[in-house]
Amino acid sequence: MAEKRLAVVVLAAGAGTRMRSAKPKVMHEIAGMPMLGHVLTTAHALGGEHVITVLRHQRDEIASWLGEFSPTTKIADQDELAGTGRAVECALEALPADFDGAVVVVSADVPLLDTQTLDAMLVTHLEAGAAVTLLSTWVRNPAGYGRIVRSEDGEFASIVEHKDATDEQLEIGEINAGVYVFDAAKLRSALGKVGTANAQGEKYLTDAATILKGESEKVELLSVADNWLVAGVNDRYQLSEVAAELNRRICFGWQMAGVTIVDPSNTWIDIRASIDEDAVILPGTHIQGVCTIGRGAKVGPEVVLVDSQVGDFASVVKSHVTGSVIGDGASVGPFAYLRPGTDLGADGKIGTFVETKNAKIGAGTKVPHLSYVGDAVIGVESNIGAGTIFANYDGVSKHQSVIGSHVRTGSHNVFVAPISIGDGAYTAAGTVVRRSVEPGDLAMNVAPQRNIADWVLSRREGSKAAKAAEAAKAAKASETD
Ligand code: UD1
Ligand code: CA
Repeated sequence: MAEKRLAVVVLAAGAGTRMRSAKPKVMHEIAGMPMLGHVLTTAHALGGEHVITVLRHQRDEIASWLGEFSPTTKIADQDELAGTGRAVECALEALPADFDGAVVVVSADVPLLDTQTLDAMLVTHLEAGAAVTLLSTWVRNPAGYGRIVRSEDGEFASIVEHKDATDEQLEIGEINAGVYVFDAAKLRSALGKVGTANAQGEKYLTDAATILKGESEKVELLSVADNWLVAGVNDRYQLSEVAAELNRRICFGWQMAGVTIVDPSNTWIDIRASIDEDAVILPGTHIQGVCTIGRGAKVGPEVVLVDSQVGDFASVVKSHVTGSVIGDGASVGPFAYLRPGTDLGADGKIGTFVETKNAKIGAGTKVPHLSYVGDAVIGVESNIGAGTIFANYDGVSKHQSVIGSHVRTGSHNVFVAPISIGDGAYTAAGTVVRRSVEPGDLAMNVAPQRNIADWVLSRREGSKAAKAAEAAKAAKASETD
């Protein structure tokens, strides 16, 4: 529905006191995105001419994020008068004075609301020619929400806030979702009549609906059965509940798209992730930021994947991977730590207790055990011996090591950067490579081994070691007899 005479107002100016947080409430994240981001995505998907976010508390912090996330969103500043009604009044000032379309109002703390529900409300609203269309749902525990009061004939009568409700009204299980479609002119006129004589001394938006009803205007009420769509987040418990539900829905979406997720309750997937068919996500896996996972890849158990790509049929087990690329068919872990700039080629391996950073590791190259690979470029089909350290830092600056293709380096090497090792070269066990190695050479440090005969027998006389040595010597002597 393009070219709708439609404005969407996102309420985000409240103090969010119940979060007890230095961070603005609407900036708390679920599925890796601030609640405000989820609501703005939904708002923009409606295709209206104007999207306006109302800010006041911690305005600048939210505004600077907004400038990046959604530059086409207008900001309206709420003044010192409090309440959702005042917030909408301030938003209307940001609209052209002659704007006469529909005004959709949503709250930044109702993050699971979807575009389909808003579309359904708009259809109801426009078909009925209503002054306002409200959204409600029935909940088991309505505490904290505004209640929908209906008259004897079942028609909408008014909205009463929890703090203003009578004992009888507190029993009502139908709640106001805080999501509305208004006729712009009727909204303006109703807001002009809203006062602040209530328990919170605020100008309530809900009163605009009650006033319009009192003026015999048409008020439509759409009820949804799915409570989660309208769940509000006022405190951190509700934040965790809504986050868990969104995660369930994200996992469900991927499952329907052909991804195996063994335990969705123990798998957390960012809203920005993208996962191909036949990938398998095992329990304890956290997929954060912008990640892609290829076809048939196996991720988990217990993997943290941040802003990274996993190739087709690759496998990542019990590892922490951030800002990295893992090629098709490659394998990572268990117990690997891939830091930003790691790029593992197809069929390569980063094995157990290996840390990498800014390291381009070629196709088929393996770093199997107990190593640190920092600031390195390694060619294809090379093997880095167990316990190798790329000494990239001289205490002042970082330097690069360049290792060729088909290289075999021995166990327990140190590569003191900057160095290079040519194609097909070898290094011996325990080598400290301080000078570059030519293709095909073998590098080794010559430090001859010296054995001091019977040192243990004389210096550790009577110890278990000495006794074991004596027994071995006696056995050897009897063999040669
Ligand atoms: C509001 C509704 C309540 C409804 C509930 C649904 C009113 C008076 N009450 O209550 O009927 O059941 O939402 O979740 O509207 N905000 C502003 N400026 C303000 C105050 C709030 O922009 O001065 C914003 C907040 O940032 C928030 C939203 O409006 O995003 C709702 O405010 P909140 O204080 O959470 O209202 P509730 O008490 O939840
Ligand atoms: Ca709320």
